[in-house]
Amino acid sequence: MSWDILITHIKGLVQVREPGTEIVAGDAMATLPILPNAYLAIKDGVIADYGNMDALLVHHAQHTLDASGRFVFPSFVDSHTHLVFAASREEEFVMKIKGASYADIAAKGGGILNSAHKLQQLSEDELFERTRKRADEIIATGTGAVEIKSGYGLTVKDELKMLRVARRIGRETPLTVKTTFLGAHAIPKAYTHEDYVSLVIREMIPAVAEEKLADYIDVFCEQGFFTMEETEMIVEAGKRFGMRPRIHANQLHRSGGVQVGVKTRAISVDHLENIGDEEISLLQNSGVMPTALPGAAFFLNLPFPPARAMLQAGLPLAIASDYNPGSAPSGNMPLMIALACIRMKLTPEEAINAATINTAAALELQGTHGSITRGKVANVFISKPVPSVAHLPYAFGSPFVEQVILQGKIMSAI
Ligand code: NIG
Ligand code: FE
Repeated sequence: MSWDILITHIKGLVQVREPGTEIVAGDAMATLPILPNAYLAIKDGVIADYGNMDALLVHHAQHTLDASGRFVFPSFVDSHTHLVFAASREEEFVMKIKGASYADIAAKGGGILNSAHKLQQLSEDELFERTRKRADEIIATGTGAVEIKSGYGLTVKDELKMLRVARRIGRETPLTVKTTFLGAHAIPKAYTHEDYVSLVIREMIPAVAEEKLADYIDVFCEQGFFTMEETEMIVEAGKRFGMRPRIHANQLHRSGGVQVGVKTRAISVDHLENIGDEEISLLQNSGVMPTALPGAAFFLNLPFPPARAMLQAGLPLAIASDYNPGSAPSGNMPLMIALACIRMKLTPEEAINAATINTAAALELQGTHGSITRGKVANVFISKPVPSVAHLPYAFGSPFVEQVILQGKIMSAI
């Protein structure tokens, strides 16, 4: 046996799955398979082998890492981010502390339009450098694959600029990247609804498709942003160019986003702070992945999605960060898992399933990411020495990740 990397004496190898398990839903989310006293072998960028330490035969490895007292996880898959942005917005954060709502700030030209204004001034290279820092930051907290949206450009040129930066993150960092066109994120001041929707459909979507810059299409379906009808028109236009929908649904109001998502066969509906029994039953057997963004609910002081009711109804659930400057300025997946446990009453096992295997499925990466499975991409991390897996959400905010391996390479300096 000759391997590139061998990790030995692993206290628990987390999320070990035979090929074929692609998502977990309902009661099955409570089970997180963990192999105790394990080894993990990596070769040519993929998971080559794993097993009990007693079964480890004579071997040779270029690098051997001793993980005594530590857990090894598959890297997190963060299926919803706005990683490409120009600048933070802490002035709005302070306005919110003093009583302004997200909608008040947006109505005053703050919010998304504020971010768009800043991004339009930046060169593509400068935007890339700023985004690369955030990519390094999320790598250090255990993320290995990420979805990145546009939506702070709001002109043809600037939406293309954002998506080129997102694609370049996929080429020039070890992160696996999927991109989403979110031109319909807000309506710039100079446009009527109708004119902007027409710009998105007639100019932006074809230009994005021409350069093959987006895997998916998204719309912010919300009061004051885009209606159900507009959302449906825009995502149907995207589908004609091969972009599958994933939708910002039911964040601030019962906006009908879930209904549009199910009707248009979206791959996911994300946010879901404002859903009830009707949306839950629509999602049953729909094939649409419901995705909670606990960082955004926490930061905006919104109700959290009714996760327990969703699992009781047999639904799967995914958890992503929504990393963005307005409603979730953190891409820290261990923290998202902690919030999901503390505020949505998920067990640690459920939350970890939601942030690995289910988010991988939400990005159509179920064949390559999201679990410890022979042949999958070697995206894993070694934890700090901790007593149990539940320590991750319990010690919220404490650094959990000690060593990252992405695409079979040991990342330095975390
Ligand atoms: O997912 N809801 C819409 N988009 C982002 C927030 C964007 C912003 O405020 O900049 C979100 O929460
Ligand atoms: Fe978002």
